Amino acid sequence: MRYKQFGKTGMQVSEMALGTWGIGGVGWDNNSEETRLDAIRAAVENGVNFIDTAPAYNGGEAERVVGKAIKNMGARKDVVISTKCGNVFVDGTTYVRDGSRERIRQQCEDSLKNLQTDYIDLYLIHWPDPKVPFAETMDALNQLKKEGKILHVGVSNFSREQMEEAGAFCPIEAFQPQYSMVHRDDEALIKWAAQQGMGIMTYGSLGGGILTGAFRELTTFNASDSRTRFYKHFQEPMFSKVMELLKVMDRFSEEHHQVPLAQIALNWCARKEFVSTCIVGAQSRKKVMENCAAFAWDLTDEEMALLDRAVAQCLDQ
Ligand SMILES: NC(=O)c1ccc[n+]([C@@H]2O[C@H](COP(=O)([O-])OP(=O)(O)OC[C@H]3O[C@@H](n4cnc5c(N)ncnc54)[C@H](OP(=O)(O)O)[C@@H]3O)[C@@H](O)[C@H]2O)c1
Repeated sequence: MRYKQFGKTGMQVSEMALGTWGIGGVGWDNNSEETRLDAIRAAVENGVNFIDTAPAYNGGEAERVVGKAIKNMGARKDVVISTKCGNVFVDGTTYVRDGSRERIRQQCEDSLKNLQTDYIDLYLIHWPDPKVPFAETMDALNQLKKEGKILHVGVSNFSREQMEEAGAFCPIEAFQPQYSMVHRDDEALIKWAAQQGMGIMTYGSLGGGILTGAFRELTTFNASDSRTRFYKHFQEPMFSKVMELLKVMDRFSEEHHQVPLAQIALNWCARKEFVSTCIVGAQSRKKVMENCAAFAWDLTDEEMALLDRAVAQCLDQ
């Protein structure tokens, strides 16, 4: 595993962070609890020291599994935990934004219980809530910081204007945007956030799984599975463009001892100087180990240039 400074937080984090959106729900997790715990154990055993979760991930179930895994390993001090607030998963399908003071405090208390800890290393606003002034949301976070319940504050899915406005009330130390070979829409924003000294943790680093090559035909996920709704490359016209990119990645793999496509995608993401860590959702030991192995080798500058050209040619038209 390789490590980078996480912005100005003073924390050193692994270039791969383990994502937990899939745990326990949103349509594609049929794993046993032992398999889920074992996936987290595999990540930590292979040098991952950063785990991303949220109360919105299946109504706290992901946090509970993370808390149990870390407790079982006695690894609390070795792992940076990021969890989130301001987004509530209601009735098993709908996410509702709520940045109110009361909600933030209640979510923080619940997360501490779920995670079986008395502090959260990094606390992110999951999505901006246009109904609540940032002054109120950030004040709630300042208060939690003063009490030592959260150590660092970050945001996800914010625009530059929103970060500037919210950051005036409480320093924003981390940014969690969607970023991968198939989603570069926010690259300029991410570079700006990195220049401000924020740690950058990309989500959907495997494009929600499409960059692993596991989906070669347009797939309709069932209604409870958020992937089609959330990741636009699972729909046309993006899907066909991504299939063209996969052909280039397939050739690269053939020429490089059949290296898994997921490793190419993760290496590409981690090589970007403005990325601190790539969050990857994976719920079995095998997938976690395959992904960790991406950080045992490096794409060369020429290979990066070749992949960047392929990404532009396949997706930017
Ligand atoms: N802030 C936000 O709004 C936001 C939004 C989305 C995600 N996130 C965070 O970012 C994390 C990552 O995003 P994501 O999980 O949506 O997408 P992702 O990491 O791009 O892709 C995850 C998908 O790839 C599959 N996968 C992983 N490694 C694989 C491998 N080696 N071979 C084959 N398939 C593999 C996973 O399968 P299995 O799950 O079946 O193992 C899962 O279906 C989330 O878990 C969450 O922590 C944050």
